[in-house]
Formats: sequence, structure tokens, C-alpha cells
Amino acid sequence: MLTIEHDVNLKPYNSFGLPALAHRLVRIRTEADVRRVVDHPELGRAPKFILGGGSNIVLTRDIDAVVLKIEIPGIRLLEDRSDAWIIEAGAGVAWQELVQWSIDHGYPGLENLALIPGTVGASPVQNIGAYGVELKDRLDSVEVMDLVTGRPALLPASVCRFGYRDSVFKHSDFGGLAGKSVITRVRLRCPKPWMPQLSYLDLARKVEQTGIAEPSARQIFDWVCEIRRAKLPDPSVIGNAGSFFKNPVVTEDQCRDIIGRDPGIVHYPMPDGSIKLAAGWLIDACGWKGKSVGGAAVYDKQALVLVNRGEARGAEVVTLARAIQESVYGRFGIRLEPEPILL
Ligand code: EPU
Repeated sequence: MLTIEHDVNLKPYNSFGLPALAHRLVRIRTEADVRRVVDHPELGRAPKFILGGGSNIVLTRDIDAVVLKIEIPGIRLLEDRSDAWIIEAGAGVAWQELVQWSIDHGYPGLENLALIPGTVGASPVQNIGAYGVELKDRLDSVEVMDLVTGRPALLPASVCRFGYRDSVFKHSDFGGLAGKSVITRVRLRCPKPWMPQLSYLDLARKVEQTGIAEPSARQIFDWVCEIRRAKLPDPSVIGNAGSFFKNPVVTEDQCRDIIGRDPGIVHYPMPDGSIKLAAGWLIDACGWKGKSVGGAAVYDKQALVLVNRGEARGAEVVTLARAIQESVYGRFGIRLEPEPILL
């Protein structure tokens, strides 16, 4: 049975807490639900919008496309190989629930990615990352279903075109899969032997402060949760979508000029010779912390995060974001690119 819900307010279903209506919404709990949508006389051909945890979207208007709200549950150990544990999770599982489960069951490897909001199904779309680990470093494969044929496929990580907060699932052109396929399950690879990843400055500091030189995966999980809680707002309390802008990557030439003018700028050399600048630092340097447009504001502890102070509308978030982009461009000549998808 396929149940179509009409005019559903999406405010509780996006982490920014922005109001917008889904004219038609279908909850997907199994692969069979996807097939029912594909075979449906009206829904089958209609454009689709896939909604996971809603932690990476800014809703500025009602949605005409059929919203498929992904609620596929389940976590299991799929394979215990000599070089890795392969864990499979339903796309509707909360990411943090999966990380917690993996730590509790003794399959380390996901601890640096603790407390990232959103669902398992959304994690490859953005290639989520934090504290020196990106999803692509731990992804085995992605189970998808084609939204035209209803056929399932297993995509190995190598075909997902992962980049910094980017993948084949985020684009609809050049063979991208956005709107064409739906992610139903994700298989993660927890490598054996486990190696702690402590290179990120905030974690290296924890090692120094606590004197724990060889932390367990659970210890790192706890540290990452502590670090994130101290500087990032909890979306269940203050609406937000995590980092609002990507950290811009520039050439050494561009950077030399900028560093010459602002020696304090936070920057990281990348393996390919390019330089990543801290967008939070750039925004902070332009004096944006705590500033607002209507209900949308720049978080006062981390300038990279935009928050909903109460009754923000998507348009206010977008106006604030544009003003930030203009001021950073005016001062540094750098164009900031939003991380979430603006709808
Ligand atoms: N900074 C400031 N002022 C600010 C914010 C940051 O001066 O208001 C400086 C910090 O002091 C630090 C530097 O900028 O030296 C970088 O800040 P931070 O370490 O907080 O990390 P980030 O670059 O802002 C990135 C990811 C986060 C991820 C952390 C940890 C992006 C866009 N963001 O943030 O990812 O959790 O590193 O790995 O890549 C997300 O994508 O939603 C997200 C939260």
C-alpha cells in the first residue's frame, strides 16, 4: 500500500527548522516502497525530491516535486573480512546512531565522524567529513534504486566521484544521479587493523591536555562529541545546517597575496599544492559573528554556522548568506560557496 500525504509542513523535517510545504510526501521504509512509487500511474513520472534528515538543505519555498522521505531502518554486520568489517545500514538510520552502534559493537573507524547530524543515506551525498576523516575513506559501496526503472544497483565507492563535500549524488548533469536514483542502504568499511586518526589540531590538543597518547576509538568518539558540542549548535535546540560554506581552496599565488595582507589568516596546505582557507576565519574577520537578518543569524561561537533564532524563513537565511558572500569577496576577493543545497 502506498500512502500519499498532502501539504505536509516540512519544518520538523529539516534541521534549520524552516517552514515549507510538501504538496505530496511518501514515506519510504523498504525497497518495495520505492518500486510502488515508480509503478504508480501519477507519481511514477513526476519529479522527485529525496529527503533524509534534512540537515543539508535550506528550504525557501514549497516543494512541487514528490518528496520521498527516506525512513529505511536497520544496522547489521554484513561481513567480517580479514582486512575490514563491512557494516550495512538503512538510509533512514540517523548517522550518529550508526556511529554509536559501531563503537558499542567493537567495529572502530567511524569515531571521528561522531555527532554529524543527518541520516546514513545522506552521508555519501555530501561526502560528510570531520576531524581528518571523510566518508569516502570508510565507504565500501552504496545500494541505490533507479527512480525510472525501479531496478536496484550496488555502486562501489570508486564510481561515486567523491570530492570535498561533493559526490555524483549531488549533481543532475554530466551523468550525476540527483533526482534519478535513491540511496536505500550504505555499506561502510571499518579497516583492520584500526589506526587512530589524531592529526586534526583539536584532537592533537586533547591528547596533549589529557596525556592519553594511545586513545581507544571510544575515547576519540567522546572527544569528538565534546569538541563539537562546545562549538557547534545542537540542531534540536537551535536550527542550523552545520557549516554553511565550504572552506575555499585557492592556489599558492592567490594565497600569497592574501596572506601578505592578512598574516593571521588560518590556512592549510593540501597534498596537491593548493591551499585551503578557513571560511569561518574569513567570515569572522569581516565582523559577522552574532549579526542577523530577521530570524536568521551568524552563530556567535562559530562564524561558519548560520542559525535559526526562532521563526526564520528560508529567504532570510539566503539574504544573510548573500551579504556574507559579498563582504568576504569585497575584502579578500574570495567567493564562498554554500555547503547546503538551497531550494
Ligand atoms: N575560525 C575563526 N572564527 C570562527 C570560526 C573558525 O577564527 O568564527 C577559525 C578557527 O579558529 C580555526 C579555523 O577557523 O582555526 C577552522 O575552524 P574549525 O576548526 O572549527 O573547522 P572548520 O574549517 O570551520 C571544518 C568542517 C566541519 C568539520 C570541522 C572539523 C567544512 C566547511 N567544515 O570546519 O564540518 O566538523 O572542520 O573537521 O569543511 C560541516 O561540514 O557541516 C561541518 C561542521
